[in-house]
Amino acid sequence: MISTRLHPDKQTAAQAIAGEIADLIEIRSKSGKTTVLGLATGSTPLPLYAELIRLHRAEKLSFRSVITFNLDEYAGLGPSHPQSYRFFMEENLFRHLDIPAGNIHIPDGLSKDAAKNCADYEAAIRAVGGIDLQILGIGRTGHIGFNEPPSAADTRTRWVHLDEVTRRDNSVFFGDLAQVPQGALTMGVATILEARRVELIAFGEAKADIVHRAMKEAPSAACPATWLQQHPRCTFHLDAAAAKAL
Ligand code: GLP
Repeated sequence: MISTRLHPDKQTAAQAIAGEIADLIEIRSKSGKTTVLGLATGSTPLPLYAELIRLHRAEKLSFRSVITFNLDEYAGLGPSHPQSYRFFMEENLFRHLDIPAGNIHIPDGLSKDAAKNCADYEAAIRAVGGIDLQILGIGRTGHIGFNEPPSAADTRTRWVHLDEVTRRDNSVFFGDLAQVPQGALTMGVATILEARRVELIAFGEAKADIVHRAMKEAPSAACPATWLQQHPRCTFHLDAAAAKAL
């Protein structure tokens, strides 16, 4: 079931979600447990990451007990490529926190054996007991992670071909469409649905149509975000513009 939470602006949404993450980390670490976070890239989660960094600096929130798994990575891009998701995460979150380097997981865009890398990724998630809380954005094609249409509910971490709409949307970061990789490694829909909590964030009018489809269309591979309707604990964090069509 999807519940919606309306926020007046990005900053307020970031504070609310960061507060939930901080509570989860603190409660679990008090009883010696790790917290497993699923993380997203794109412009949407940036205010959230800035707020987590602020909580770490100003409120001494520690990330030593946190384990992270990112949703996806571009095929062919390594950690030093400025558009790789590994680079993005280091710059915008990890290097500012006290998270142990060994606790960070991102699919390897340079892997020579993508199938093995993806199977190992699934195994690593299972080995730590699954994802406690998954952060998601949403693409205009209805993709979550890089699960482009069609993506079935039973898909797992795998190599995917990127939709041309997504390549065009993301070309602003690369400066040139030809530089945008054709493929990516992404957690599957089933991987995402197994997270115990899902927090999807969408801001702005450009996301209004896809937010409406994700919540109102019957779940199908044609709009992968619709599968979230089958999740027991999924919240869409929206501003008024993104909620406009609901
Ligand atoms: C990318 C990522 C997604 C993200 C989406 C939306 O394609 N793979 O995880 O949700 O873009 O990006 P933005 O938040 O910039 O709109």
